[in-house]
Amino acid sequence: IQIRQARVDDYSYIQNCNLHNLPENYQQKYFLYHALSWPQLTHVAETPAGEIVGYVLAKLEDEDKAAPKDPKATTNLDSDSAANSAEQDSLRHGHITSISVMRKYRRLGLAKRLMIQSQQAMKAVYKAHKVSLHVRVSNKAAINLYTKKLSFTVDHTEEKYYADGEDAFAMNLIL
Ligand code: ACO
Repeated sequence: IQIRQARVDDYSYIQNCNLHNLPENYQQKYFLYHALSWPQLTHVAETPAGEIVGYVLAKLEDEDKAAPKDPKATTNLDSDSAANSAEQDSLRHGHITSISVMRKYRRLGLAKRLMIQSQQAMKAVYKAHKVSLHVRVSNKAAINLYTKKLSFTVDHTEEKYYADGEDAFAMNLIL
């Protein structure tokens, strides 16, 4: 099973996989927003027959919320532009919006490989210094993946983060 960067025509399969595996679902435009803004960060797991059986959907966040979200929007800065963009580089971090693997294909190491590919792109393409995510406090499988296999640590707990009232662990990994 191959892990590769997602193409625009993969996003309907990513959305389908998300609907099968998680209660947190998004409109198609939110998937396309990821595809168009940060095409290098979302990856898929594809079988030799061409079936998409897993994905990691990821984005970039500016820690200074006042800073422009789109990296291209920094190009019209004036005289301090070089310094400003260097500063903004160091303030950017990656965020895992969603990851899932179809049931039949779990425990094969696909999620770990998807996460590593996305993390590498965050660092190489956007100079992200860390990656963050939220996970349900009851989601043992995902918590093991993040903490035991990828060395994430819990930054804090966000109470009632999910629509059904469950808390989230906010986790980080320094890249
Ligand atoms: N129970 C305990 N630990 C588990 C389990 C499980 N059922 N599944 C994975 N792990 C841990 C183990 O430490 C495992 O390593 P090991 O197999 O050597 O013991 C490690 O995670 C890596 O496993 P992978 O094979 O890489 O993970 P997989 O491809 O099976 O996918 C995932 C894991 C994505 C959590 C999958 O179970 C899934 O799709 N679950 C439903 C969707 C979901 O919960 N997604 C995460 C939500 S949080 C977010 O999206 C930011």
